[in-house]
Amino acid sequence: MPLDVIVGAQWGDEGKGRITDALAAQAAVVARYGGGDNAGHTVTVGDRIFKLHLIPSGIIHPHTLCLLGAGMVVNPIVLAREIDELKALGVAAGPDRLRLAYNAHLITPLHQATDAAEERRRGGPGLGTTRRGIGPAYTDKAARRGLRAEQMRDSDAFAREVQAQMETGGAAFRQLYGLEPPDPVETAQQYGELAERLGAYVDDPGRLIHAALERGETVLAEGAQGTLLDLDHGSYPYVTSSHPSAPAALTGLGVGPKYLRRILGVTKAFQTRVGEGPFPTELQGPIAEQLRGTGEQPWDEFGTTTGRPRRCGWLDGVLLRYAVRVNGLTELALTKLDVLGGLETLHIASTYAGEGSEFTEPPAGPAALTAVEPQYETLPGWQDDLMAIRDWDSLPEAARSYVRRVETIAAVPIRLISVGPEREQLVDRGIAG
Ligand code: IMP
Repeated sequence: MPLDVIVGAQWGDEGKGRITDALAAQAAVVARYGGGDNAGHTVTVGDRIFKLHLIPSGIIHPHTLCLLGAGMVVNPIVLAREIDELKALGVAAGPDRLRLAYNAHLITPLHQATDAAEERRRGGPGLGTTRRGIGPAYTDKAARRGLRAEQMRDSDAFAREVQAQMETGGAAFRQLYGLEPPDPVETAQQYGELAERLGAYVDDPGRLIHAALERGETVLAEGAQGTLLDLDHGSYPYVTSSHPSAPAALTGLGVGPKYLRRILGVTKAFQTRVGEGPFPTELQGPIAEQLRGTGEQPWDEFGTTTGRPRRCGWLDGVLLRYAVRVNGLTELALTKLDVLGGLETLHIASTYAGEGSEFTEPPAGPAALTAVEPQYETLPGWQDDLMAIRDWDSLPEAARSYVRRVETIAAVPIRLISVGPEREQLVDRGIAG
């Protein structure tokens, strides 16, 4: 009866989608537990590149049942588009294999407009949100005035409710920001039509997951974003408005902890961040450019959702240790090891120095990182191309020592290593189950 959780151990974009894709081969159910279309999961299968924002990456395997959990905020326009895009790529995503939690909340154009208006009001670069309306939708949820997916079951009543919400919220929006809100009548009509289509997808993932677990099937909970973007445990206020960390998989899906088996954290072999906020190991110059790539390849460090170039730096072992603790990780997947190839020497921050002390964990949480100085260990690089390697023993010694060092710093085994964007470009060490 195993429930396995896949969680981002950094600031998102760790490559969770392709790790989910690898593990989904053995799972009956793949379920997303939080966030919305601020996420972007890329999976490359031959010449098909899947860019998913809402639907779990597990959908690419034809045998899986895929669920969008209660912890999510779902833009129905994006969901309908993603279903169509999958269909165009030959992947069926009808209600027989895709379900949306009745208690997931819905994003409206007013949430998106509010997200953008709030960013402008903050001035400067703001928080650097994806402007997908995530924060405002969770705000409405917490204020107990949100729209829930279950309301789409009656499309006429739903359209009336959308119009009423857009009118009330729109008036407040006009007053607060001095801007014209999106048109309530147009939105109500569009959302009513979407409800006619998406109403059939509405179900209760908690019940479906429980039944699958009781049958002895494997359920995979797929995280979005990363631990350091967690509303409670991340670098507040430079965080998202949900809880990407592993414990939220349970509330986000409606399942208890007794079924938990593996909690797999995904970390890149280096560090990246998109949006504003502290980043102690950030690099500028040629090494950052090598890590980022030019943007020509889909796996280069440019946002899947926004196209923004990501900030890049050396792996931060202190934050990794923190992510291991907060999530209770049982193992790690290390992605993009191949990208470090060609560098003379590599660095990993294994401690921080600050105020005359040395720290193995962020002294005041990941929000207060400006007063610390990362202390680096230097390791030899490798010149070999790793992309064709599939087994641990064939990796160059320098690459293996790098992995071992990360493992020692994190104090959990690294089970999977990715050496390229393709589905098969994985080294499975098989050391943790
Ligand atoms: P929001 O989630 O759009 O409100 O954005 C809040 C912060 O989280 C910003 O710094 C975003 O760049 C970041 N963020 C949100 N989703 C992702 C993601 O999937 N990957 C990386 N960063 C993200």
